[in-house]
Amino acid sequence: MRIKNLQLVNFRNYEKLYIEFNDNVNLLVGENGQGKTNIVEAVYMLSFGKSFRTNRDREIIKFNTDNLYAGGVYEKNGRNGMIEIMIGKSRKGIKVNKIPIIKLGELLGNMNVVIFSPEDLKLVKDGPKERRSFIDREISQIIPGYYSLLVDYNKILASRNRMLKGYNIDKNLLDVYDESLSVYGGKISLYRREFINKIAAISKDIHKKLTGEKEELTIAYKSQLDICENDDEHTLAEKLRNLLLEKRESDIEMRSGRYGIHRDDITISVNGLDARLYGSQGQQRTASISLKLSEIELIKSETGEYPVLILDDVFSELDENRQKLLVGNLDGVQMFITTAEHLHRNVLDMKNSTIFHIKNGAVVKTENGGN
Ligand SMILES: Nc1ncnc2c1ncn2[C@@H]1O[C@H](COP(=O)(O)OP(=O)(O)OP(=O)(O)O)[C@@H](O)[C@H]1O
Ligand SMILES: [Mg+2]
Repeated sequence: MRIKNLQLVNFRNYEKLYIEFNDNVNLLVGENGQGKTNIVEAVYMLSFGKSFRTNRDREIIKFNTDNLYAGGVYEKNGRNGMIEIMIGKSRKGIKVNKIPIIKLGELLGNMNVVIFSPEDLKLVKDGPKERRSFIDREISQIIPGYYSLLVDYNKILASRNRMLKGYNIDKNLLDVYDESLSVYGGKISLYRREFINKIAAISKDIHKKLTGEKEELTIAYKSQLDICENDDEHTLAEKLRNLLLEKRESDIEMRSGRYGIHRDDITISVNGLDARLYGSQGQQRTASISLKLSEIELIKSETGEYPVLILDDVFSELDENRQKLLVGNLDGVQMFITTAEHLHRNVLDMKNSTIFHIKNGAVVKTENGGN
């Protein structure tokens, strides 16, 4: 997949911008605070309908203006598509090929984007919440209905929690909530197991390659349910139903739902040891890179095309060797790299590239380089 161009109006510090991207490497360079991340934020928004930096859309509208527009044309499986987002102070509209969509789920999966930022380098070290959103974000790009399943599950969980926080516990209503949680949870859990199995297999190979066969990476699904390989969605739902029932009194006592797939996690081990607890910083970083690279391969194998890769500020955090590993492993992937510093020249020379110099909300110079 390639993003061909991007048009912005009143987006962060861009009053107006139109750029055409390189099909290979796009390097966004400039001093701090000039608008490099703002461009990749826009690219990300076209894929996910929201920013990776904030949940408050209004922050993205240019100061002292009322509406923003972000639009872009992408090419996927030989066809062009167009995504447009309009955000006003109290309204938001998204169009796919000029047609307004009703649910965010209709946007997801059109333009596949993988982002790698300094936060992702901490994926291994972070809490379960970050790893869960990593899994959910990726599955949403691959499985069309997954995102709405999550929305439905979380809505019921929130209602159930509201009841647990109050003084009237209606056991019949709890039965209803638990039944829905189990049905949705069973499906979600099944998708997660499949995704984690695939990512585990791909990342094992990639990690071996990245570490010169020295390290073995193992990724496993960690759930409160006792998940077996041949469980189907009904078996998983049944397991969740039983767990919720068994823990009901304890949930009532604690006034909060502490059991279910909203507590899922993954364990990431290097040579048999939990990398979160025992991995060195370098091992944790390399494991994060392996996971990201696997994500890219998985999207390719599920959708037939590589996603676009955004590297926001991670380059300067990696040594030359890891920079080369990252870029060198990704043939045929369109990349957006933001950096305030110069890259190692021999890393850049590996690919056909365009360098956009960014200053104060404008592209002030464009250079073509590489081969
Ligand atoms: N809603 C907004 N309206 C106008 N300008 C904004 C808005 N939000 C952020 N900015 C400006 O955008 C700039 C930050 O842009 P961005 O995050 O893209 O910088 P950057 O080039 O990636 O910098 P760094 O190298 O530090 O990461 C800041 O100058 C900020 O004031
Ligand atoms: Mg930035």
